[in-house]
Amino acid sequence: MNKNVTRRTFLKGSIATAVIAAVSGCASQVKGKQDTHLTGLIARMTLEEKAGQLHMDGVLSPRMVQPNFQKINPFTPNFSPEQAADLLKNQQAQIKSGMMGMMTSPEDIDSVIYAQTAAVKDTRLKIPLIFGADIIHGHHTIFPVPLAEAASFEPELAERTARACAVEATTNLGIDVTYAPMVDIARDQRWGRVVEGAGEDVLLGSLFAAARVKGFQGSGPADSRGLLACPKHFLAYGAAESGLDYQGTSVSDRVLHEVYLPPFKAAFEAGAIFTMASFNTIDGVPATGNKAILTDLLRDEMHFSGVVISDFQSELELIKHGYAKDEKAAAKLALSAGCDIGMVSGIFPKYVPELVRSGELDEAIVDKAVYRILHVKQQAGLFDDPFHRIDEIAAPQQAPEEHIALAREAATKSVVLLKNTGSVLPLSKEQKVALIGPFAKDLKNIDGSWSPFAPQKASVSLEAGFAEKIPAAQLLTEDGCGIDTAIEGGIKRAVEAAKQCDVVVLAIGEATNMSGEASSRAEITLPAAQQALAEALAATGKPLVVLLRNGRAMALEGAVREASAILVTWFLGTESGHAIADVVFGDQSPSGRLPVTFPIASGQQPYYYARESSGRPPAPGTTHMFQSHFIGIPDDALYPFGHGLTYSEITYSGVTLDKSEVKKGEAVTASVTVTNTGKRAATEVVQCYIQDRFASVVQPVQKLIDFDKITLAAGESRSISFTIKPQQMTFIARDLSQQLESGEFRVWIAPSARAGEAESFTLS
Ligand code: BGC
Repeated sequence: MNKNVTRRTFLKGSIATAVIAAVSGCASQVKGKQDTHLTGLIARMTLEEKAGQLHMDGVLSPRMVQPNFQKINPFTPNFSPEQAADLLKNQQAQIKSGMMGMMTSPEDIDSVIYAQTAAVKDTRLKIPLIFGADIIHGHHTIFPVPLAEAASFEPELAERTARACAVEATTNLGIDVTYAPMVDIARDQRWGRVVEGAGEDVLLGSLFAAARVKGFQGSGPADSRGLLACPKHFLAYGAAESGLDYQGTSVSDRVLHEVYLPPFKAAFEAGAIFTMASFNTIDGVPATGNKAILTDLLRDEMHFSGVVISDFQSELELIKHGYAKDEKAAAKLALSAGCDIGMVSGIFPKYVPELVRSGELDEAIVDKAVYRILHVKQQAGLFDDPFHRIDEIAAPQQAPEEHIALAREAATKSVVLLKNTGSVLPLSKEQKVALIGPFAKDLKNIDGSWSPFAPQKASVSLEAGFAEKIPAAQLLTEDGCGIDTAIEGGIKRAVEAAKQCDVVVLAIGEATNMSGEASSRAEITLPAAQQALAEALAATGKPLVVLLRNGRAMALEGAVREASAILVTWFLGTESGHAIADVVFGDQSPSGRLPVTFPIASGQQPYYYARESSGRPPAPGTTHMFQSHFIGIPDDALYPFGHGLTYSEITYSGVTLDKSEVKKGEAVTASVTVTNTGKRAATEVVQCYIQDRFASVVQPVQKLIDFDKITLAAGESRSISFTIKPQQMTFIARDLSQQLESGEFRVWIAPSARAGEAESFTLS
């Protein structure tokens, strides 16, 4: 490492001069607002060099040729050193001939230095490469999965963790772009990728999207310790039919504008200059080949001037979709639609020159894409110094102390207390605890989806976290069962341990690979082996505390649903065991709130709070014939969006409005008094929802428009007000315009969706 960094320092002077010459040589005439250095550069490029800029390849490591490389690098396919040497030579030749514009997913910083050196030293035009990777919720330090972090209802926290991710990934890996944040609104909990985003709500999703972009990018795209953000997946990927990953969507343009676009808009306004086209179709057209989506909507309507990358070969998948007949047609369709860079497939460099020469593709389309790519490289500071994200000083391999502390804070704030019958939590440190379940000792399923760079075994297990709170003699630990298999004698041993203890803490839920990409589930319940364990433990009569590990909302059943207490603990990363133990033993009070609705049953999916008003709405809790519900199940949530308890008691007064008649263009202020009537300090997320009661498009039964996270000392009361601005009373009409229509509005200020009484005002 040091040797290479020294080499980089040595090369820096001469290379930087060459790179700056690449953009400063031939300034052409001003074309609109385009940078003449870049247009001059494009004028000097061959068709092949232009097509090269449109190509992203995986970075090969120069260390691949070492005999033991595959053993220590599990992500590399098993090549012999000879094969690896050939591949590497081939890739170097491609880089040197200018056939590559972007590279992805390096395993180490040496690979980045190796590839970038070839690009800026040995290519004809010395155009630097730009490097990307999936830094989703951590690099060495792993923070909670994005869904968990959304439960904090604290976007500023996500900004800080994204910043820490960027610092580590630039310092340790030297990359420029992260394929994050994922800003897909996810309303069907069967979809495994719910775990990667901020959940079901448009406002929460937009605030977290903006915060994460700001955190990743720091002072802006040229920040040497920042990563360029790439909000994804454009568009409506989370609307996959039946929650099945890679399936099509049939959302209307109006719903696209109302639900799926706002988080992207927020991310672009926060400064993102990349986005990723999604795998799915939208109304029959794959997003990657969809001009209406990637050009008319994204560029013309939203004025996005950055770069669109495909999602792993999605340009090639136009063929399997049955939308393009072969690779050449796919390349033409994707590029013409507005996809600038093809991820890994190689079909752009392979076919674009020939398509242009034969007159099938207008060279102006290619030039526009190349301009956008060179422009983001310029904005990313790469023409000034192609190595500026690679630290001069040896990169630390460990997670820095301050990041560990941040990981513990973020993990603690992500935990959601669903129920706490008889105040069984927090546990007293005098109690004898049976810690049972497949996740009690587990170290493999702590970090969650997308944490390939996490140092092995660095995360804190539950058992280790508990062991720091109570003496060993007070803690009995048993697996009880595997994640989805029974263990011989497991339940018996677990029951015996439970009988010897005052309380059972049951660590159950989903394995890492049960959520994330390609991990949709038909039933969002616990595996049968775990449910059987829970039933046996409940039968002991001991108080049962469930610690749920999960990457989505789940349908809880039987003894789990009936447990005395349930804490949603998601995948919390490096400091998981410490953070959960902090909450369980009362050193921290839980403060997370659900960013997704927990349904009563799997079959209710998609189930989310902001549903359209039905013509036959059932009264809560009822199952009357000819009123909307599934047979035997009331049309309710088990735990609604926004729900989460504290270790204290919080009460809300009724809502008051400063006026009941409001003129268009005026704001209205809604207020409530929130009181901590319990004995401990508590953090409350005060949520403001509205409903536009009558409109030309049927409106959601409730819509979150604002929230405030406050901490109240025991006995403290505070008046909380929300100013509801005209913009927050609007909706997207059928002609896609934003409409403010007169009529009745209901307002709730409450601890969750579906709680509290509404107050009304009339807009005229
Ligand atoms: C995923 C993207 C990811 C990409 C690159 C794809 O399979 O859908 O979210 O960024 O791979 O790793």
